[in-house]
Formats: sequence, C-alpha cells, structure tokens
Amino acid sequence: MTGASGTVGGQVLDLLARRPEHEVVALVRPATRWAAPPGVVVAPADYADPASLRAALGGVDTLVFVSSDGHAATVMLHHVNVVRAVTDAGVGHVVALSGLDVDVESPFCYAVTNGHTEELLAASGCAVSVARASVYTEFFLRLVTGARTGSELRLPAGDGRVSLVSRADVGRCLAALALAGPTSGHHDLTGPEALDGPAIAAAVSSAQGGQAVRYVEVDPADYAAALARAGETSWWAHAYGTMLESIRHQRWRAVSDEVERLTGAPPLSVDDVLARKALSRPAG
Ligand SMILES: NC(=O)c1ccc[n+]([C@@H]2O[C@H](COP(=O)([O-])OP(=O)(O)OC[C@H]3O[C@@H](n4cnc5c(N)ncnc54)[C@H](OP(=O)(O)O)[C@@H]3O)[C@@H](O)[C@H]2O)c1
Repeated sequence: MTGASGTVGGQVLDLLARRPEHEVVALVRPATRWAAPPGVVVAPADYADPASLRAALGGVDTLVFVSSDGHAATVMLHHVNVVRAVTDAGVGHVVALSGLDVDVESPFCYAVTNGHTEELLAASGCAVSVARASVYTEFFLRLVTGARTGSELRLPAGDGRVSLVSRADVGRCLAALALAGPTSGHHDLTGPEALDGPAIAAAVSSAQGGQAVRYVEVDPADYAAALARAGETSWWAHAYGTMLESIRHQRWRAVSDEVERLTGAPPLSVDDVLARKALSRPAG
C-alpha cells in the first residue's frame, strides 16, 4: 500500500497487518523515518520516482492506493506515475482512495485530480475498486478551529451541507475493500448525515459543554484574507477556498450506507469524533 506512513494509510496497514494470510508491503519514501508494524515488508518508493514505484509493485496482487497530497499538478503527476507502474507491474486489483466530488467541472482543486485519476485507472485494464471519501471530519474540524473568532465560526460555506466522514472509517473501508477483492465500482464513504454550518457549530458548541459557537457566513475573499493573515500558504488557501466553494455548491451532501455495508459498523458521527478527541486530550 501507498501512504502507509500517513494517518489513513497507517490505519489501513494496522488492519491488514493483523491478517497473517496476506503478505503486506508498505511503500514508503526512502527518507521517511517510520517504524513498520511487525511482519510488514517495507519497499522504498516515491510517487515522484517511476522506477521506484515499478520496483516496489513487482509481485503485488492488490494495491491500496492512498492519494497523494500537495499542489494539484504535482498530485496528478504522482498519480500518473502510480497508474503507469500498476500497469507495468501487472498489479491485479487497485483499491483507490478518491473523493466524493470527482466532477472535473467542479471548482474544487482535487475534484479534477481525483476525476482524472479514476479515468486513468478505468483505462488501465486493472480491476479497480474506488473509495470516494467525503471530507474527513478531523480535517474539517481543524479548519473550523482556524476559522473560530471567539464564539463565531466564520466560514464561506453558505448553506452547503457536508457528509463528514472520519479517517478511521475511511481506513476500515479501504482495508475491507482490499480483503474483499475487486468490486469494479465506486463506494461513497460518508458519515451518517450531512451537516450545514449551523449544525457543525452546534456540534462544536455541545462538545465544549454548551459554550456558544455560532456559524457566520463570510465572503470567500474575506476568508482568503483571514487565511493569509494567519500565515497560510497561497496553495492551501486556494485548496480550502475551492473546497468550501464546492460545499456551497452542495457537492458533498450525499449520504450513503457504504461504511456500514463494507465494515459491518455504522460510521462515526461528528459528535463521536469530537468525543474521542476530548478523551484523547491529556487531563489537566
Ligand atoms: N477527504 C479529505 O477531507 C482529505 C483531506 C486531506 C487529505 N486527503 C487525501 O487523503 C490522503 C490521505 O490522508 P492522510 O490524512 O492519511 O494524509 P497524511 O497523513 O498526510 O499521509 C500522506 C501519506 O502520503 C505519503 N506521501 C506524500 N508524498 C509522497 C510521495 N512523494 N511519495 C510517496 N508517498 C508520499 C506520505 O508519506 P511521508 O510520511 O513520507 O510524508 C504519507 O504516508 C491525502 O494524501 C490526500 O490525498 C483527503
């Protein structure tokens, strides 16, 4: 699997490493300092280095392909390299992490990369199972923290609703898809409901013992200026801004039962994730 040293990939790896009937190979950048779980083979590979990908994928039956991150053009190049290496190495099945919004006409910068990557995979001749994840709850809550000014949650989300899904559920679904074999389809991975700005503010408020948090819709340009003042890079300000624009367009509101269907357990709600965060915080 790719992205094995990351948050989602690490969770998939832990689940797969518990299955002794499978040999699990973690593709990890050579310079990354990271301890593999017992029994996992480590293969050095960089998305930017096609030869390393080809070598690492030799003899692999199923690839769990965790999407790359960063500038969209670089991500696309990385994904082209991975799909070429999959074809060259004769990988039988790819479980690909994609996104709920894969419309290349979307304003969201990664809708284009995910959409084109899915097209490349479909044309590769390899069996493909696509996991289209909604926005990660933990990621969105970090944006929410950055957008808080006192009791106000200031985001340009309009009345858009988003079916936030936890990274843990995405990891469990990727592992389930790898173990199940090719499904030749896509799976929308979402949380149990789609929330709008006021509902997200209410969830944060209740996790803080009722301390009032109120959603305030702000102009996209004002949000971009606030990110710049906070020291955000132009790329990430663009990425967050286009994601919120696609939320305003209601591109992330679909809710599915795929998490429960694939894993046998219902998806975590935003309240569940906030409660887990509170529990994992050191006391005092
Ligand atoms: N749906 C959402 O809300 C959302 C939000 C954020 C991201 N995403 C997508 O979901 C993916 C997984 O999320 P995550 O939270 O697990 O991300 P993460 O913790 O940042 O993990 C990213 C993984 O990609 C690896 N990677 C980065 N550049 C690489 C390269 N050039 N060659 C090989 N490996 C490379 C990293 O390896 P190193 O340890 O070497 O850096 C790491 O293992 C992200 O990569 C991104 O595509 C989705």
